[in-house]
Amino acid sequence: MAKVTFIQLNGDTVMVDAEFGQSVMEVAVNEGIENIIGECGGTMSCGTCHCYVDKDWLNKLDSPSELELAILEGSVEPNQFSRLSCQIRVSNALDGLIVSVPSAQF
Ligand code: FES
Repeated sequence: MAKVTFIQLNGDTVMVDAEFGQSVMEVAVNEGIENIIGECGGTMSCGTCHCYVDKDWLNKLDSPSELELAILEGSVEPNQFSRLSCQIRVSNALDGLIVSVPSAQF
């Protein structure tokens, strides 16, 4: 288990327990986190799992693939902290991960 914290639009934080191997998108959807939709189920074809990774955690993630970068370009208000949460796998190394939700996914 690892802790993942979601920062919501109003600034509230929600810390949840996540199983190793789950994607952050799956964790968010299971917990009902607002604005993380995951419409394609994690097959990297929808972009509705866009999130912003806390700057202290960003370099702990694997680099995004070209496809992920292309999808992120089409997301709402992407920035240098943008990632697809379906591509982030919970692991021991990511225990304590912090991500923020976007204002919208469409
Ligand atoms: S859930 Fe569709 S791209 Fe991540």
